[in-house]
Amino acid sequence: MCGIVAYIGPKDATPFLLEGLQRLEYRGYDSAGVAVSGRTGGLKTRKVKGRVADLAAAVPARFKGTTGIGHTRWATHGVPSDANAHPHLDNAERIAVVHNGIIENADELRAKLTADGAVFLSETDTEVLAHLIAAHATEGTDLEDAVRAALGKVVGTYGIAVLDAEQPDRIVVARNGSPIVLGVGEKEMFVASDVSALVRYTRQVVHLEDGELATVRADGFRTFTEDARTTHRQPSTVDWEIDSYDTAGYEHFLLKEIHEQPGSVERTLSGRLDERFATAHLGGLNLDARELREIRRVKILGCGSAYYAGEMGAQLIEELSRIPAHSEPASEFRYRNPVIEADTLYVAVSQSGETYDTLAAVQEIKRKGGRVLGVVNTVGSAIARECDGGIYLHAGPEISVASTKAFTSTVVAFALLALHFGRIHDLSPADGRRIVAGLKALPGQIREILENDGQIAELAAEYAKCEGMMFIGRVRGFPVAREGAQKLKEISYVHAEAYPASELKHGPLALINPELPTVALVPDDELLDKNLTTLGEIKARSGRVLAIAHRTPETKLADHCVLVPKSEPELDPLLLNIPLQLFAYHAAVALGRDVDKPRNLAKSVTVE
Ligand code: F6R
Repeated sequence: MCGIVAYIGPKDATPFLLEGLQRLEYRGYDSAGVAVSGRTGGLKTRKVKGRVADLAAAVPARFKGTTGIGHTRWATHGVPSDANAHPHLDNAERIAVVHNGIIENADELRAKLTADGAVFLSETDTEVLAHLIAAHATEGTDLEDAVRAALGKVVGTYGIAVLDAEQPDRIVVARNGSPIVLGVGEKEMFVASDVSALVRYTRQVVHLEDGELATVRADGFRTFTEDARTTHRQPSTVDWEIDSYDTAGYEHFLLKEIHEQPGSVERTLSGRLDERFATAHLGGLNLDARELREIRRVKILGCGSAYYAGEMGAQLIEELSRIPAHSEPASEFRYRNPVIEADTLYVAVSQSGETYDTLAAVQEIKRKGGRVLGVVNTVGSAIARECDGGIYLHAGPEISVASTKAFTSTVVAFALLALHFGRIHDLSPADGRRIVAGLKALPGQIREILENDGQIAELAAEYAKCEGMMFIGRVRGFPVAREGAQKLKEISYVHAEAYPASELKHGPLALINPELPTVALVPDDELLDKNLTTLGEIKARSGRVLAIAHRTPETKLADHCVLVPKSEPELDPLLLNIPLQLFAYHAAVALGRDVDKPRNLAKSVTVE
């Protein structure tokens, strides 16, 4: 949510800033801006409402400087506009600040700074930082001291980069709740809010900790705490492939990421299946078998699709290990003064590892003495670091705002966890072997579903014309329906509602008519007959039905059917979900939507 970049070195900063912002655009895309300074000082700034491409078009050829900062915004305080775009400056146009996060006491600081003579030009909370730092940047004060002093007065979350026209040989950055990564180059340094903006330039990175600042110069960096104690940080090497950040010939990142799933699932499984003992090895749990046996309940927390993946995970855990498990939105959990129990295992789910609500839930559990595992994609992210242990997904970077491959890998990670729990409890070796074999077969089966892209594209184009859609599934199929509806509405803006198939007759059946088709999950399992009865009820009300099924329902209970290969019943939801990703994608394309950057949304929701 909001992207930050910065450069200092011998070259012109602007090309890196613009390219870096383009790579971070998935974090926010309603306005963008850059500020640069040359060796002789002075600031040049450009900021525009719109996309990074609009900014690039507005930056003149003479816009050059060897030190620069940039920002792409997702509005929190104030509408998207040129004035509200970052960087924000003080009135002397000496200090420029880009910021990700929320300054909670902005109103109070603004009133005080206004009384002292500052004139505010935007509605943003960030502008107070520029005036506040300027107020502390008195004659002879080092920029890092001015930033530290200003941050001492701030309540809230931030990742910031600060440029001082009078000290253009340095950039000061700080992190508290919003990520900041330093990239170490050859006599040049880079900064970004995530590594995707850096990997083309350097693989050597330093992730700042919360409460840490850094002064970055062309020849290196120094990290320190808010009370000026030096910290010692060694760069680590990024192992994600550079081409993960390109569309690699696909029309959109989303389509590429959907098609990457055979490989990303293989990576999630890699080295974790134990055929001899018919179980899974999860080295990062930091819990031995005895400790795991003491767990009486599992509570899974995540937001949006991560929460739905958690619902699938909860069902897997209950089915395979018979430990009661439940998934809840982290955003709700954290505000309801939850009871934290010693024999409950808490599991936080997050692709980005940055989602503020999920992080806050983890912190609340830990504060009350609970034990939390993370199921996280981004290595070293805030949530991963806050947890007591966990499972990394290894799905690779997910750039498109809508989650697909991370969703699937999360459910696979839960299947591994459920298998591991199950084999410690009462899951038989035969059932363990069945699940191991089922997991191993998934990548090939996903490939098979992806080959059916053409049929799904045609159906999606047809169904996209409807006024809304119903998604239904029973028990294991219900979280699939929820995720399918979520994907459709978020990228195509077609209204979609998910219901348990069993609940349809208790209310929403009233909505059914030819204009409101139903996508029905119809696996060939012990509930098949019940599902067919529901389809009959829909057809009797002239409803149109698109079935996602293992075999075509007989007697015209569905108008269309997308067939998926059969897995083990517990793993079927994973495969049933894949056609729904393609369906949402093609519906969005048919409606001319901006698939990778849907309106009003951004990836990594680092605000409340
Ligand atoms: C939906 C989607 C969001 C995220 C949610 C949590 O496609 O991407 O609902 O799943 O914002 O994000 P993470 O997993 O990064 O915590």
